[in-house]
Order: sequence, then C-alpha cells, then structure tokens
Amino acid sequence: MTLAHPGPHLADALTIVRLSLHVFAACVWVGGQVTLGGLVGTLRREAPGSLASVARAFARLAWPAYALLIVTGIWNVAAVRASQASSAWSAVFALKMVLVVVAGAGTLAHQRATTPSRRGVAAGVGTLATVAALVLGVALAG
Ligand code: HEM
Repeated sequence: MTLAHPGPHLADALTIVRLSLHVFAACVWVGGQVTLGGLVGTLRREAPGSLASVARAFARLAWPAYALLIVTGIWNVAAVRASQASSAWSAVFALKMVLVVVAGAGTLAHQRATTPSRRGVAAGVGTLATVAALVLGVALAG
C-alpha cells in the first residue's frame, strides 16, 4: 500500500491466485460437508440405496480439497512471512493447525465409523473443527 492511497487496495496477481485456491478448496471441503449433511435426510427417505455411493462420490471431491488446503496453506505461511508474525498471530495459527488436524481426523473417523452414533459424533466434531478453522483463517488474513 502506498501512502498516497491509504484506503482499500487490490491484491497483487499472485496473492489472488494463492488465496483464491485456498478459499476455493475451503468452499468444497466445508460447503460440501454442510450441504451433504443437509441432504442426507432426504436421500435416506427417497433413495436409501444410494447413500453409500453418494458418500463415496463426495469423499472423492472432499479429500483432494483438503489436500489443496494444506498445500496452499503452506504457500500462505511462506507468503505472509510467518516468522515475523506477532505472538497473537502465531497462537491463532497454532490453534488453527490443531483444528485442521481434528477436522481431518473427525472426517476420517466419520467415514470409518460402524455405528450411527459414532458416525454422528465424528461428523459433528469434524464439521465444527472445520468451521472454527475457517474463522481463524479469516482472522489470520487480517
Ligand atoms: C480445514 C482446513 C482449512 C480451512 C477451512 C482454511 C480456511 C482459511 C480461510 C477461509 C482463510 C482466509 C482467506 C482470506 O480471508 O483471504 C485462510 C487463511 C489462511 N490459512 Fe487456511 N484453511 C485451512 C487450512 C490451512 C492450513 C493447513 C494452513 C497452513 C499450513 C493454513 C494457513 C493459512 C494462512 C497462513 C492464512 C492467512 C493467509 C494470508 O493472510 O494471506 N490454512 N484459511
């Protein structure tokens, strides 16, 4: 930002690519979980036989999005010069990393659960951790 223009400014091209990829992956990972969660009742009623294959089809989209979040997240860390960050930024970043792990582990546990109650708890933990990671991501972006 120049002093002549202290107001809103456009991101440079590389920042647009980096953050767009990170946010796009977050949209697929988070939005897909919320949307599928909302559709599951209807699917169970109207087409119960399709539930397992729909879940597998979603997993084929969600896990590449999670991988893209990690790759672009590492790119983010490099781009924002995290080594010069304040201790508050570093603490929020560390908490976000814990939530990212919990989100992945919760989603994996959800996929592998053998009882409906475990499946539900794991889905809840995974989705909550993901949404919390998203909010902390917005805080990190300042
Ligand atoms: C569940 C996984 C994740 C979600 C949902 C998520 C979501 C987000 C969101 C929504 C933003 C704000 C982007 C903006 O406002 O422009 C963000 C920023 C950020 N994320 Fe993530 N993220 C995830 C994983 C990661 C990982 C694994 C890392 C590091 C390895 C990471 C590092 C960062 C950093 C450093 C920023 C700030 C970027 C900047 O200021 O330019 N994220 N994240």
